[in-house]
This record gives sequence, structure tokens and C-alpha cells, in this order.
Amino acid sequence: MHDMRVLVLTGAGVSAESGIPTFRGKDGYWRNLDPAKLATPEAFARDPQLVWDWYRERRQLIRDAPTNAAHEAIAKLAQHGDEFLLVTQNVDDLHARAGVSPEKMVQIHGNIFVTRCSRCDFSYAGRGGSPEPSGTCVVQPTNGRLRSIAATFEKDADLPRCPECHALLRPGVVWFGEQLPLREVQRVENFLDRDGCDVVIVVGTTATFGYIIDWALQANRNGGELIEVNPEETPLSRFATRRVREPAAIALPGIVNDLTNRGAL
Ligand code: APR
Repeated sequence: MHDMRVLVLTGAGVSAESGIPTFRGKDGYWRNLDPAKLATPEAFARDPQLVWDWYRERRQLIRDAPTNAAHEAIAKLAQHGDEFLLVTQNVDDLHARAGVSPEKMVQIHGNIFVTRCSRCDFSYAGRGGSPEPSGTCVVQPTNGRLRSIAATFEKDADLPRCPECHALLRPGVVWFGEQLPLREVQRVENFLDRDGCDVVIVVGTTATFGYIIDWALQANRNGGELIEVNPEETPLSRFATRRVREPAAIALPGIVNDLTNRGAL
């Protein structure tokens, strides 16, 4: 019996029950500002202080947020099957904290705990679940160069600057109007090129971006199951073989138990 191939696509709705506001939900606004207006290179150029304040608050909110039953069910599914990929639009670290390994996950919009230079390729991965580093500390720049920057980072705490080229550092996320990270796109397409999927689960997304719909339909090309979990209708609903109009943390544990009990995983 061939290993069941599973693709899971998630959006902000999967973290809503962990207390993290969605983007387009009524709780998405920050200081009465539309996230779509803040998460842009233009907003950062105009007022980097404001954008950093927003990301710092979001980082702390995420650090304080627990994983929920939806994250845990998806992690269980990931551990069950070899032919599994999670593509998340979320920049939080809750899927990782729930136990989904980096090989089985693509954060297509980046990771909020990564900080990178707005000019050169310097970047480093901060630590999610724990408070911002204070005082001096050695950080592991993701481009392999070791450097102690926290002192400068903390001292002019508001606007961190690149230790290499002194340009402004920015959160390692994809802003509106920016390109998706090519290496991550390639990972998704390599997984989908290998074959269609027996099960596609789409959780908590408005499916605003065409590539999310394309990947779901590409994965579903052999006519397997396409399960949508979302209290509301989305542009993907009409393609779904099953629409579960329930919150993710309520619906996912049962869906995953069914799949794992089928013994094809
Ligand atoms: N369980 C499941 N779905 C939920 C829940 C829940 N508890 N709560 C809300 N939802 C659904 C909403 O009905 C909505 O369809 O989650 C969706 C959240 O939609 P958005 O806020 O648009 O978030 P998302 O689809 O992830 O946005 C995509 O757009 O703003 C950019 O880069 C940002 O990654 C984000 C992308």
C-alpha cells in the first residue's frame, strides 16, 4: 500500500485560538492601523520605528502564545507519514513548537523571529519562545558569520542596524509586494512535481493569494480529498470535497485521527 501523500496549507486562522489575531479578521488592526498598510517596504521606509514597534509587539504576543490542538494535530500527521508537507503563510513559530520538523514545513512568508539586513545578506535567527536577548550575547547569523551584536542591538533598542553594512535591520518576513523566497517556492514545487496528494487540508486561510489556490489544486490533481477547515467561505470552498465550518482546534484532531486510523499513513 503506497504511503498516503498529504499536503497541509495553513493561514492565520490556525493560530487564532492561540490568541494571535488574524490579518483580515476584525481583531487584525494594530493601533487602528491596517496590517496590510504596515507590512510593506514603503511603510518601513516611511516609519521604520512604527514597523519595528509592531513586530516587537507581535513577537512578544507570539512568545506568550501556546500552541493549540490544531497545531498539535498537524504535527501528529507530519510525524505519521513520509510523504507530508506543511506550507504555512504564518510567520509565527507555533507549528515548529508543536513539533513539525523543518524538513516537513515551508514558511512561505518567512519567520518573524528572523532579523535580516535591509541591504546586505546578513541575517540571524532569534529565539522564538524566549524573551529578546538582553545585554551582550553571541547570535548565530544564518549566513554563518559569528558576531556579537546584542549590545548595539539593545542600546539603540529602537532601530537595530546591520553589523556588516550598518543599514537598517528588518524582520525576516515577506511583505506585501515582495517576492516569495525562491528556495522555499522550489521546495513546494518539488514536492508537488513528484506526484499529486491523496489528501489536501486547507486550514484558516482566506486563500487571498493565487499561489495558495494553485498549490491546493495542483496537489489535488489526482482527485483525492480536499478538506477545507474554516468557519467562513473562501475562494477555495468550491473546489473542496469536504467543507468543515468549524474552528481549527475543534475540527483538526478528529480529521487527523480519521486519517491516521486509516492505516495508510
Ligand atoms: N479556525 C479556522 N479558521 C479560522 C479561525 C479558526 N479558529 N478563525 C478565523 N479563521 C479563518 C477566517 O475565516 C479567515 O478565512 O482564517 C482566515 C484568516 O484569514 P486572513 O486573516 O486573511 O489570514 P491569511 O489567509 O493567513 O492571510 C494570508 O496575507 O496578510 C497576509 O502575509 C499575510 O500570511 C498572511 C496572508
